[in-house]
Amino acid sequence: MTPYAKTGGLADVAGALPRFLAKLGHEVKVFMPFYREVRQKGVPLLKAADRLTFDWTGHEESFSVWESAEGGDSTYFIDKPAFYDREHLYETPAGDYPDNGLRFAFFSKASLEALKALNFAPDVLHVHDWQAAIALAYLKYVYAGSPFFKDTKSLCTIHNLAFQGLFDKNVLQAIGLPERLFNIEDLEFHGKVNFLKAGILYASAVSTVSYRYSQEIQTPEFGSGLDGLLRNRSDVLTGILNGVDYSAWNPATDAFLAANYTPSDLSGKAACKKDLLETFGLPPSRSDMPVIGMVSRLTEQKGLAILCESLGNLFPLGVKLVILGTGEEKIRQTLETAKRRYPSFFSLKMAFDDPLAHKIYAGSDLFLIPSRYEPCGLTQMYSLKYGTIPVVRATGGLDDSIQEFSPAEGQGNGFKFEDYSPPALLEAVQTALKVYAQKRSWNALVQNAMACDFSWERSAQEYILLYQNII
Ligand code: ADP
Ligand code: GLC
Repeated sequence: MTPYAKTGGLADVAGALPRFLAKLGHEVKVFMPFYREVRQKGVPLLKAADRLTFDWTGHEESFSVWESAEGGDSTYFIDKPAFYDREHLYETPAGDYPDNGLRFAFFSKASLEALKALNFAPDVLHVHDWQAAIALAYLKYVYAGSPFFKDTKSLCTIHNLAFQGLFDKNVLQAIGLPERLFNIEDLEFHGKVNFLKAGILYASAVSTVSYRYSQEIQTPEFGSGLDGLLRNRSDVLTGILNGVDYSAWNPATDAFLAANYTPSDLSGKAACKKDLLETFGLPPSRSDMPVIGMVSRLTEQKGLAILCESLGNLFPLGVKLVILGTGEEKIRQTLETAKRRYPSFFSLKMAFDDPLAHKIYAGSDLFLIPSRYEPCGLTQMYSLKYGTIPVVRATGGLDDSIQEFSPAEGQGNGFKFEDYSPPALLEAVQTALKVYAQKRSWNALVQNAMACDFSWERSAQEYILLYQNII
């Protein structure tokens, strides 16, 4: 959750949605683990509850709760150093932490206990992804008779169905849930216990982060083995597109940029492009050739396979490419090889670097997102605000937020391709280059992009309607 700890878009969403709900008059409390990253940031915190104890598989365990001291931001941190005071959040470069089942079950149960200690009985408990979804199993089976939660309804939001939280059968006993839940009507999934399944099965309603993804996950291709269950729950399954927090993502005010700019005065964007190329050690661009940017986890999901295969045909077109990302070693090696081969066209930074990400959104002309699947995607929405035109694969939230530009009508905000293949990707880039060469059309496209409004107010309103329906 931004600004406390971040690995990707979930952090942006978890940081923004509660603030916008609060602005619209709702009382929101957010819980996250007290990760080392939060500790190290030195954010001002107050102790909200000291040494709370609860029954954890037949013996008492204790934890403390910290509260953000920033006014109006009701974020609570579950403090249990043995579980959360670690170098990484979920996984190390060598793989997932082996006790993730215990860590996030503890987090989920401790959050429910913290609600009791704070005497805050929510109308809706909104859980995000598998790390919190298991809370709904506790609500149903451990707190079933609790008068405190008797009116509490729930929403489970799926940000990425590929991550389900799968653990050995014996985890149920280790986290204090009935072992009879190990059956396919409940939490069993191909011989494992599936935490996300608790969210999908027991929530009052289920949502995903775009309409198209809510449809895609009901098919075997995108369903990650849960499509049947999701089809069974289709009556309560919806999609709400994420929003953008324009106080953090706005070229007119962004403090990370070499120069600020607005739709009516784009001169600062040229300065950002120059600064970007210098930062990435690339020679200045001929003004008639665009720079393509990418900020991405370097994983299969993000379409790196078709991108890597396209590189040899991409650079002869004259474009430059800059990539900021972290992820799989094999992908890194392929990209490093390409960097050595095309030193004046391609540069790469393997890091998680938010200021540099801002420079890429601003300094690029095109922004490439060739994802194999994309539940929502935020980077295309950030690019639009910075007048940087997305070239995306038509899947999930990318398809919902990008409309193909038509030079004849002057309508649209980007370029899309359907096939998950290198030729389709290259064709979309070539289409973009043709428009880039016609300055009139290009300027119209940039204006369309910058005028797009994906502000959180709209998405937050949709969540409020959904909460009200649930209640
Ligand atoms: P996902 O959550 O699947 O990674 P999103 O598009 O929803 O994809 O969100 C990605 C978020 O993470 C954006 O805020 C993007 O700027 C940020 N991001 C991704 N990789 C990096 C990186 N290497 N450095 C800085 N920010 C990054
Ligand atoms: C996940 C998805 C991404 C989405 C983000 C926030 O990380 O991969 O598409 O934008 O969650 O909902």
